[in-house]
Amino acid sequence: MSPQLDAAVLERAVRLALRAPSVHNTQPWRWRLRQRQVELHADLARHLPGTDPNRRDLVISCGAALHHLRVAAAGLGAAVEIERVPAPENARHLATIRLVDGPPDRSAAALYGQIGRRHTDRRRYSSEPVAPERLDALVARARGFGVLALPVTDPAVLQRMNEVLHLAAREQRHEPGYLAELLMWTHRYADARDGVPPMAVPARSGQWDQPHLQRFPSGTLAPGRNLGADGGTLLLLATPQDDTAARLAAGEATSAVLLSATRAGLATEPLSQAVEVPVARKRLRTALGLPDEPQLVIRLGLPLPDAAPLAPTPRRPLASVLLRP
Ligand SMILES: Cc1cc2nc3c(=O)[nH]c(=O)nc-3n(C[C@H](O)[C@H](O)[C@H](O)COP(=O)(O)O)c2cc1C
Repeated sequence: MSPQLDAAVLERAVRLALRAPSVHNTQPWRWRLRQRQVELHADLARHLPGTDPNRRDLVISCGAALHHLRVAAAGLGAAVEIERVPAPENARHLATIRLVDGPPDRSAAALYGQIGRRHTDRRRYSSEPVAPERLDALVARARGFGVLALPVTDPAVLQRMNEVLHLAAREQRHEPGYLAELLMWTHRYADARDGVPPMAVPARSGQWDQPHLQRFPSGTLAPGRNLGADGGTLLLLATPQDDTAARLAAGEATSAVLLSATRAGLATEPLSQAVEVPVARKRLRTALGLPDEPQLVIRLGLPLPDAAPLAPTPRRPLASVLLRP
């Protein structure tokens, strides 16, 4: 490709990567476009210390953006190679992505069309359970990043897990700074390009079976018709280690699971309170009998038949997230 075409592909891919999910829609990333390569940096000014004391969500959000970039590049016909955590002494520099010669990654390209279709769906899901083959396919996607995805389907384990989710929600309220961050990121100015807008949060009556696990204040999203119990599944993502590279991989797996689930017609919602509160995260491991490090919970299920399409949440423009070359 010509240098102009390379630059155009990379810029377009970064624009699409901005659609990635992030904790409280903080979009904690910065990008540096160079010739034939782009760098991904964490934006520590957007860290939420009261919510995410260990910066886990921040790095997972960046990992999701990295995978979105990879999908976008493949969908635009470009092959890339990725160097993760290239300078460990620089905590912000998370990855360098280089254009290389060769065919694009076909399995990543297959998810291209889902970037604009994926949205966090906090509403109640259909009572129809997710088919085991679909869950298996999502587990395989996560495994491609060295990440364990564990669907919690055993009723006894699910009950223990729900207890931990409730513990986390209760404990987190007492964390200094938590509530202030929640208010700040759900009450942006009308023209803000970040944060969680009320239209992305169901009105109280439209929330899923466990309203106390809904962390955001009641919003304006219309509920679907309630047709019985919520048949959604909780999927836990976990990694063998808990360093920056492991969290970045968990973020890439998160994006891969969310985009693949979207392609399969499933609604998805990341849930991070149980991994943000240290005591809950510890109990999660015991409850599930896991040697691995819990990184994120994802709720997924079939949308209710009459669920209206979700509107996209805002994103900051490219110019606001670019670092100088
Ligand atoms: C690491 C991470 C943690 C998140 N935690 C939660 C959560 O606990 N509850 C929730 O409703 N949404 C959660 N989300 C979803 C974000 O709020 C959502 O991605 C963001 O508001 C942008 O909206 P979108 O996903 O519809 O594009 C999380 C997302 C990420 C990446």
